[in-house]
Amino acid sequence: MSTEEKNYSKYFNKPNLEDAKSRKSDQVNIESFAPATSMSDVGANKRYHIKTYGCQMNEHDSEAIAGILEQLGYTSTEEERSADLIMLNTCAIRENAENRVFGELGRLKHLKVENPDLILAVCGCMSQEEAVVDKVLKKYQQVDLIFGTHNIHRLPEYLHEALIAKERVVEVWSGEGDIVENMPRVRANAVKGWVNIMYGCDEFCTYCIVPYTRGRERSRLPEDVIREVKELTESGYKEVTLLGQNVNAYGKDFKDQNYTFGTLLEELSQLDIARIRFTTSHPHDFDELMVATLAKRGNLMEYVHLPVQSGNDEILKKMNRRYTRESYLKLVNDLRAAIPDVAITTDIIVGFPGETEEQFQDTLSLAKEIGYDGAFTFIYSPREGTPAAKMEDNVTDAEKKDRLYRLNDLINADAQAGNMRFQGEIVEVLVEGPSKNDDAVLSGYTRHQKLVNFHGDPSLIGEIVNVKITEAKTWHLFGELVE
Ligand code: SAH
Ligand code: SF4
Ligand code: F3S
Repeated sequence: MSTEEKNYSKYFNKPNLEDAKSRKSDQVNIESFAPATSMSDVGANKRYHIKTYGCQMNEHDSEAIAGILEQLGYTSTEEERSADLIMLNTCAIRENAENRVFGELGRLKHLKVENPDLILAVCGCMSQEEAVVDKVLKKYQQVDLIFGTHNIHRLPEYLHEALIAKERVVEVWSGEGDIVENMPRVRANAVKGWVNIMYGCDEFCTYCIVPYTRGRERSRLPEDVIREVKELTESGYKEVTLLGQNVNAYGKDFKDQNYTFGTLLEELSQLDIARIRFTTSHPHDFDELMVATLAKRGNLMEYVHLPVQSGNDEILKKMNRRYTRESYLKLVNDLRAAIPDVAITTDIIVGFPGETEEQFQDTLSLAKEIGYDGAFTFIYSPREGTPAAKMEDNVTDAEKKDRLYRLNDLINADAQAGNMRFQGEIVEVLVEGPSKNDDAVLSGYTRHQKLVNFHGDPSLIGEIVNVKITEAKTWHLFGELVE
């Protein structure tokens, strides 16, 4: 059957921006994953290949997608040519992220011609955008299945439909968003695991698409989070990363209990897991209990990712970030008073609509004052449907690029300085595997989330070992194993 002739299946729900904006109901339903047993052999003798774009949330969603596919009988393949199902788990955060996916869809078209039974699926944040789905439906006939971030658990039915009825399946939910527990997972790493503590985002920073693609803020129950961390510990995991778009808002949606992120951190710090970190913390909601709990260290890592976005109050206001330069600096000072060696990284956007050179200088001076251990820096990218996309943008592309380069120079110098403070120190490294460039070298991360390379026996992979730092580079440390 040619792709052009395909009909639409009974599943045809396109995303809708108005519904994605709304936060109508405050009732969060918790369901448990339960696929129909009639579908258990949908993937027998078939292979899948997933390409993941975007943030850790997407990486972790791909682990659930892989878990569901393997439950259906699929096995994974690294080779797209031998796959019966290729899935693109997409990111909508900036235009270039989306362009990469469209480029990939174009490139994959030939595989569809070679193998008409191949199922090409698109999921993730781009699927939640009305304009993207319209574009795919019109221009990318090779796509068989589109589903969104809220209905991953329904994948067995969609695949069944796409395979049996051989019809195009489009099912995206824009509304409230619930919580689905007990999804199967095939985890990418055997010692470090992601643990969702909450989904969605209600911050509505004016530049950001995430509140529309991930829905309202909703927290998993503490007992479910604790159970998952315990299970990971029992199966040999040494580190967990607690995931949420704004983990500091954890628990704010609980109606019947006063339980915050600080409380959760306190409880988790009592467990046997060797290391805990979290991402991302919004500076606005970072409270005293969180600082005090982190100061106890134990299994809580000395590392905080604290996106600042801009160092100028007017821009922060236009971004709807709900903190000021001063209150951000105070938070950093409080953290450093409580944990003097804490490593702090950030995200910064340059060229927000109307950002003047003077306002950008405020970002440079703030970064200089703080001395970040590292930063993800971005040129502002307008996202359709967000308030900032309607603001007048008179900053030229050349100026935006120039600001990014100037900022990166400062950030890189500070990252190197941040690494220098470990020179001669003995640090704990969770060994992950051979280093990227040299099989004889092992690599892993410290409690401050610093990458360390050192010579050692592969039997150390998965262990936490002591390493003496002999050399600090911009992006990593080099050291010697301390026996
Ligand atoms: N929830 C996280 C961030 C998620 S997106 C937080 O609030 O910190 C990761 C980063 O992408 C953001 O921190 C921001 O710096 C950047 N970003 C988001 N939208 C963007 C846009 N429209 N253009 C450029 N960068 C953007
Ligand atoms: Fe986007 Fe802001 Fe939410 Fe982060 S907190 S996901 S930047 S809206
Ligand atoms: Fe991208 Fe969605 Fe994450 S837009 S950054 S994959 S939440």
